[in-house]
Amino acid sequence: MAKQEPEELLELSSDTRSILDEHGLRPLWEVEEDFGHVFDDLQPDIWKWADMKAAIDHIEEDVPIADLPPGFQRRVTVPINTGMNNAISNTIYVGVQTVSPGETAPSHRHGANALRFTIDGHEDMKTVVAGEEFPMLDNDLVTTPQWEWHDHVNDSDKTVAWLDVLDLPLILDSLNSSNVFENHVLERQPVTKTEGYWDSQYGRTRPANETRDGSIPGPFEGVREPTPPYRFRWEDTLETLRQREENDQLDPHDGYSLAYVNPATGHPPLFPTMSFRAQLLNDGPTDPHFHNATEVFFVIEGSGATHVDGEALEWGKWDIFVVPPGAPHHHDPDDEAILLAITDRPVFEAFNFYAEAEPSE
Ligand SMILES: [Fe+2]
Ligand SMILES: [Fe+2]
Repeated sequence: MAKQEPEELLELSSDTRSILDEHGLRPLWEVEEDFGHVFDDLQPDIWKWADMKAAIDHIEEDVPIADLPPGFQRRVTVPINTGMNNAISNTIYVGVQTVSPGETAPSHRHGANALRFTIDGHEDMKTVVAGEEFPMLDNDLVTTPQWEWHDHVNDSDKTVAWLDVLDLPLILDSLNSSNVFENHVLERQPVTKTEGYWDSQYGRTRPANETRDGSIPGPFEGVREPTPPYRFRWEDTLETLRQREENDQLDPHDGYSLAYVNPATGHPPLFPTMSFRAQLLNDGPTDPHFHNATEVFFVIEGSGATHVDGEALEWGKWDIFVVPPGAPHHHDPDDEAILLAITDRPVFEAFNFYAEAEPSE
């Protein structure tokens, strides 16, 4: 019998083909090519603050929050990655939200984890979470964790803007899970805690004689310690950055880099699905590296460029940009700059699948 060529071995008889087709089956070697192409490859991309500001200002003029469809009363403009139609990446979602003076984004809760990073804030702009009012001053980070009631109440005299960050595409698309969602019966949830309550419970002293049952809020189960409602004041984060700058060596890839910790554990990640860093860059270009996690950046202060796969993303204050998985990148600040970094790295680490390296010359 003549030796068969490999291609001939892959030839299937019409009988085989019709059995496969009829029963919803495919041979592995044909399926293999389709792995990793459910989404088009993520692209490095940048959204300039001036453009996002123009968009949210116009949307604010056109649409009061009260006119938005019940169930999703949030006035947000969303950066969309090329190749996707709902988010900046297939794991992380960011958006820029505004609330006008006197408006409330009504109380609701959901399965997705979320946080707010204040862009242009005011002490009378409050995000209310789990019974406590958290003031939103510039660059404060406020968690609105899984299944906690949250509403955004603007009692100030100016429009306030902030960055929303959620794990929505991971939950809704990658895991194909519905976002369990509920509206509060009241527009504003009752304020039942004094200001500073949640912060006070996660400090150097903690409740004694109170055994936590380890349960996770809502209809969920898991092994991670739930993230509490919490406000990371910018003045504290900045002080920690300055102390590091004064006393310590910087990281070659990320500058002086602080991870926001889950206050319940004292360790990152802040959420099981997303980790956050404040990065101070002030010593010229960082060394290039790449990793299989996606990174989204928000520019807190300063200007510069991030070089991604040979493409320069030129950024200034309040711009948002995305570094796709596997793309070599380094930062080159003009002078001092501070970035908020958002990454899906904990998802990879949960499966022992995180990898990072420097490109070879
Ligand atoms: Fe929400
Ligand atoms: Fe990186």
